[in-house]
Amino acid sequence: MCGIVGYIGKNKNAQQILLDGLHRLEYRGYDSAGLCVISGKKCKTFRAVGKVSALEAKIGEKDLAAKIGIAHTRWATHGKPSVVNAHPHNCGKIHLVHNGIIENYAQLKEALIAKGHIFSSETDSEVVAHLIDEANGSSRSFEESVQDALAQIRGAYALVVMHEDEPEKLIAVRNSSPLVIGVGRDEFIVASDASAIITHTDRVLYLDDGEMIVLTADDHRITNFQGKLRNKKEHVLDWNESEAQKEGYAHFMLKEIFEQPHAVEDAMRGRVIIKEGLARLGGLSAVEKKIRSINRIVIVSCGTSYHAGLVGEYMLEEYAGIPTEVEYASEFRYRKPLIDKRTAVIAISQSGETADTRAAIREAKNKGALTLGIINAVGSTIARETDAGVYNHAGPEISVASTKAFTSQLTILTLFTVYMGRQRDMSMTMGRRILTELRALPHKIEEIFTQEKHIKKIAKKYSSVQSMFYLGRKYNYPIALEGAIKIKEISYIHAEGYASGEMKHGPIALIDKNFPSIVIAPCDSVYEKTLSAIAEIRARSGKVVVITTSDATEAIKIADDVIIVPKTLEMLMPLLTVVPLQILAYYAGVTRGYDVDKPRNLAKSVTVE
Ligand code: M6R
Repeated sequence: MCGIVGYIGKNKNAQQILLDGLHRLEYRGYDSAGLCVISGKKCKTFRAVGKVSALEAKIGEKDLAAKIGIAHTRWATHGKPSVVNAHPHNCGKIHLVHNGIIENYAQLKEALIAKGHIFSSETDSEVVAHLIDEANGSSRSFEESVQDALAQIRGAYALVVMHEDEPEKLIAVRNSSPLVIGVGRDEFIVASDASAIITHTDRVLYLDDGEMIVLTADDHRITNFQGKLRNKKEHVLDWNESEAQKEGYAHFMLKEIFEQPHAVEDAMRGRVIIKEGLARLGGLSAVEKKIRSINRIVIVSCGTSYHAGLVGEYMLEEYAGIPTEVEYASEFRYRKPLIDKRTAVIAISQSGETADTRAAIREAKNKGALTLGIINAVGSTIARETDAGVYNHAGPEISVASTKAFTSQLTILTLFTVYMGRQRDMSMTMGRRILTELRALPHKIEEIFTQEKHIKKIAKKYSSVQSMFYLGRKYNYPIALEGAIKIKEISYIHAEGYASGEMKHGPIALIDKNFPSIVIAPCDSVYEKTLSAIAEIRARSGKVVVITTSDATEAIKIADDVIIVPKTLEMLMPLLTVVPLQILAYYAGVTRGYDVDKPRNLAKSVTVE
């Protein structure tokens, strides 16, 4: 949801750094973009509807000659995508960019209008600029004026603010929206996430909620919103720059699909002790005793991470014997979940910033649960707010459609199942078996890549359909859901994921020769049941694409199109069956001519509830 960047330095050109930052944050929102710099004592603002390239076209060849500035790429919440609603917003000499939602903006706006303020946009964000200006006008300093405004606003926000008369100062604040401060030599870069920072420095400061930082080119001061000093230690980012580039791939999504063997490998690196059939999860050692005493797990997550959680539920119940439930994080906090000290609530999140997941974790904490995280983004909010956790180490995932994060989440969930199972009843032999198979997966994923051209052909064949089903059973039911979400978000084809056994209870009414089904039917314990579902669809002239294993002779025979995946343990099959579905969605989107890395109406991390 919106990407923000701020820069202050002594020597470099702010304009270039801000635009580069916006490109890297564009996946967070791309319906409009804007930039404002102070050059001399004058502010220069440019805003454009569309992507960052539209903003660049507007700026043209001009060198704005500035050492300080702010920039924004928007995912609209209040007010449609338009130039007037694009950030930066200003009131008088105050200019700012905002990511988040100001919940009480309507009342504040009304009060400001009554005082004579004139608004030029429909956004909630503009209210903050007016509040700061209002305080500044009654002879409060720049910092005090920001604090005054913060005392009045409610909601989620990361803000970067400039004052035209104080071009040597940048103020950034954070409350429930992500913000990272990059620390360079005689420069600071403030951004919604580290991808906009990593090319300049790997030294970062993480602000916590309720904190404000005042930056000059060579100094900084962090306080709470009331001005009380806070001490922060610097962290070093463990990303490298090339991980955040496309490296010859047409899209980040394709690159990230092909990175999966590495992502799976990296997720298990140093964590597998085959000899003893054990998983070593260092991030959980501080709470190991507590984990031994828990009798129930609740997984909270959204979207693709929720689908990973569903696979985790099946694994944990079957192999670790521990009751597990998976909940949409957005539902969890609004009902009355029964949670106590013996419940572990696990957040699964690639970004570690998803507002719903974060709120669910807070709710779980309030109820006394042990909170754990399976998070990719190191140092992200959820990673810091959970009691303990396991990082994915999948590297930055830029494409809005999540791929490598998913398989890496499944890898961690497998390790966690072995970890939990071995604390309980799982035998060493079973632990060894699972881990040995897990270790073989990166190679098996590579085998699937050899069918890329074949899958591309199938994608083309079905790319003009209006609707389709994705069906699977047991471990592959969540993969049916995942396949459907992937094709929906990338190619805008309407798709529904179903448990294949549910077909006959209603959805089958939709089947005809124009309504194809993708059926995940490896030769596993539910193979014969899934075969029946395929036969029922074929009997109604529905086309069927099966994702299966080479020994599934009957499925191969009756399907219209077949994609073969290697064999593995039933519980690990999702790590393989999902890969062709990702490739299929990718090529369906490309065939239909869409920008698959930036699907319409979406944003990479959803930091509003
Ligand atoms: O960063 P998170 O894993 O918490 O994000 C959760 C969902 O927003 C995310 O998985 C979303 O569904 C993806 N765009 C799906 O590809």
